[in-house]
Amino acid sequence: MEKDIRKNIYNFAKSWVLEAGKIIRKKMNDPLTIETKSHANDLVTAIDRDTESFFVNKIKSVYPNHQIIGEEGYGDEVTHLDGTVWIIDPIDGTMNFVHQKRNFAISVGIYQDGIGEIGFIYNVMEDVLYSAKRNEGAYKNHQKLPSKKAYVPLNQAILGLNHLWLCENRLVDVSAMQKLIKTVRGSRTYGSAALELAYVAEGTLDGYLTMRLAPWDIAAGKIIVEETGGVMTNVDGDEINMLGNNSIFVCNPSIQRVILDDYIKAGRK
Ligand code: IPD
Ligand code: CA
Ligand code: CA
Repeated sequence: MEKDIRKNIYNFAKSWVLEAGKIIRKKMNDPLTIETKSHANDLVTAIDRDTESFFVNKIKSVYPNHQIIGEEGYGDEVTHLDGTVWIIDPIDGTMNFVHQKRNFAISVGIYQDGIGEIGFIYNVMEDVLYSAKRNEGAYKNHQKLPSKKAYVPLNQAILGLNHLWLCENRLVDVSAMQKLIKTVRGSRTYGSAALELAYVAEGTLDGYLTMRLAPWDIAAGKIIVEETGGVMTNVDGDEINMLGNNSIFVCNPSIQRVILDDYIKAGRK
């Protein structure tokens, strides 16, 4: 993508992300309309839907030829990543949004012919914007995040993960996961994949491991993490497919091999 074109898209996208966040904060304490989707704990609110629809209207008014993948279905039926594709999660961490009124984010990733060009993860209640442009580094608000990850020994690493790993023998054997948890310094679950990716980018988490995420959960985070020297694959160490669901292992490169080989591969089902 040409630099000037990218700069324009970046500026529009940033202003829409901040505007959407402002609207969410304003509506925050209105009575919520809450529905469930695939199961009883898969929540969606009218604000999730309105926010996605806000983005789709803005994007289509300026860039009618861009494709949009959105969680709530207001985007396009996207079957290929040719051209410019926006991948949007209007609220990542809806359960937190409903129950905690914090710890949720807007996630917007913009891809050109399958390559991640621009990423935004906006922690709405803290007013913290993580952003990146490919090859131009990642930022937390106006502060540039270091572009190289410092070495972290596994026994000093903090990992983000989904607790379901520890309850169900899915993908990786529970005992292998328990061994990993006992080896690292600590584990955390924040309930917003996008924020967990942002935390890996800023280095407050050294890695994040989860069983199944959709493109909108990871599209922005992949770009932001990679701009800080982090690495993202699925749990087999393979490339991510941005048109489908993936298991995700994102981390500081110093712990990638050991976790993939000695824990995940060893316990892979
Ligand atoms: C969810 C969150 C959560 C992750 C789930 C996602 P949503 O996104 O990112 O942390 O564990 O897999 O679906 O539904 O709140 O946008
Ligand atoms: Ca999500
Ligand atoms: Ca969502």
